[in-house]
Amino acid sequence: MLIPIPEVLDGPTLAKVRDLIDSSAWVDGNVTSGHQSALAKNNLQLPEEAPQAQQAGEIIRDALGRNPLFIAAALPLKIFPPLFNSYAGGQSFGVHVDNAVRIQAGTGFRVRSDLSMTIFLERPEAYDGGELTVETQFGVQQVKLPAGHAVLYPSSSLHRVEPVTRGRRVASFFWLQSMIRDDGERQILFDLDSSIQQLAATLGQGHAEVIRMTGVYHNLLRRWADA
Ligand code: NI
Repeated sequence: MLIPIPEVLDGPTLAKVRDLIDSSAWVDGNVTSGHQSALAKNNLQLPEEAPQAQQAGEIIRDALGRNPLFIAAALPLKIFPPLFNSYAGGQSFGVHVDNAVRIQAGTGFRVRSDLSMTIFLERPEAYDGGELTVETQFGVQQVKLPAGHAVLYPSSSLHRVEPVTRGRRVASFFWLQSMIRDDGERQILFDLDSSIQQLAATLGQGHAEVIRMTGVYHNLLRRWADA
């Protein structure tokens, strides 16, 4: 299941992130690849330890922490520090699955990748190609979103980035470990949460059935969550 998260970064925040990463030096993207994905990958990345990348990553993590849709959909437990990549001149990333466990260089911080996230940082009109193509249980889906918008998808899915044939695609990408490991259980909680929000808007937050359903949500979360 792909979940678009609109406007993760507003205009001024996006501009700040772009200023930081545009002033940093890009390197061959294979620095973060596993063995198999290195064969498929052809792009540029900012080094994990680049101060501009770390600062931009902090801005993104702050924005995510304030985004109710992201929190409801991902139920994040641990977020790998956001990374940044760039594709131009026909560059692409062929079909692959993301590594199951990510270890941050130097700190030993470990994240099991349940969900992958891409935040688009360039206007879609500014480049051709560069769609994120994900093979889901409902077929192949392609995603190319406005700058500042993001998509969440299961890290277990086969996915690729189509060749960028004009302009330059810039994005942030990272992985997160969810409190809910199982995609199906996480989906049930997200659907239930969305319905409760709708009911609360119609009936009022204090309505007895809204309170009861909120209780059901938390009792399922308590049953299934790692915290
Ligand atoms: Ni990937």
